Amino acid sequence: MTFTPMDFDPWRSFGPDVAARYDDVPRGDEDAAVARLAGLAGDGPVLEFAIGTGRLALPLARRGLRVDGVEQSAAMIEQLRARPGGEEIGITAGDMAEVTLPDRYPLVFVAFNSLMNLVTQDGQVRCVENAARHLTGDGVLVVELVCPDPMYRLEQRSGVDQYTHVAGLSGEQVHLDVGRYDRVTQRVDKTHVRIGDHGISRDPLALRYVWPSELDLMARLAGLELRERHGGWSGEPFTARSELHVSVYGRA
Ligand SMILES: C[S@@+](CC[C@H](N)C(=O)[O-])C[C@H]1O[C@@H](n2cnc3c(N)ncnc32)[C@H](O)[C@@H]1O
Repeated sequence: MTFTPMDFDPWRSFGPDVAARYDDVPRGDEDAAVARLAGLAGDGPVLEFAIGTGRLALPLARRGLRVDGVEQSAAMIEQLRARPGGEEIGITAGDMAEVTLPDRYPLVFVAFNSLMNLVTQDGQVRCVENAARHLTGDGVLVVELVCPDPMYRLEQRSGVDQYTHVAGLSGEQVHLDVGRYDRVTQRVDKTHVRIGDHGISRDPLALRYVWPSELDLMARLAGLELRERHGGWSGEPFTARSELHVSVYGRA
């Protein structure tokens, strides 16, 4: 059996329901991420690709940095605008692989796996190239991505690679993360399923996972080289067991 992509437009992944719930449960490493990014930004300005609801951009702006963002989801932009300080952020609605802004930035970043929301390798390469075009001469690009192997607990059933993960379990609700992925294209189709007294809800999401070494090559195509890689925002060492990486690139 071969992988058949889900009948779902990836651009609809962050609609009004997901956007409204997006900031309900913080990841917990936001302070570390903001401190690390602020340390790289100098006096700014800063550009975030896929800025979302401003989870990192708003606290960065509260440190006195000018933060601009690119975001494709109108619902996520609406949430950002409604938050304190949200009106101050310069947001451009559009595709981070394509948008051209007039300024150049000492820091451009793409956090929380957002590069994976582009579901083709070509789209991801163009996004990294676009980020590089927006850097000042000595500017840096920061990319945060999961490491694919621990994320997609590799199981093969009926010839299709798939996984089920209990993402949350309480007396009131179970939250399952279920997905299928294609090792050929590295595409992942997944759905967050919540089952509880409210009934059942599901949030479909399409992604393309990226190997750390593959990201390094994408950066190289964009004229960048790896400067630092850590296993988290607090400078954790990057090892074979790391579940994510925070990678910093500068001009080669
Ligand atoms: C996982 S969220 C991350 C949001 C934010 N960066 C954060 O750290 O919380 C991914 C975001 O990427 C946005 N996105 C996906 N594809 C995009 C694209 N091609 N151009 C711009 N934004 C995109 C989604 O709409 C969503 O807001």
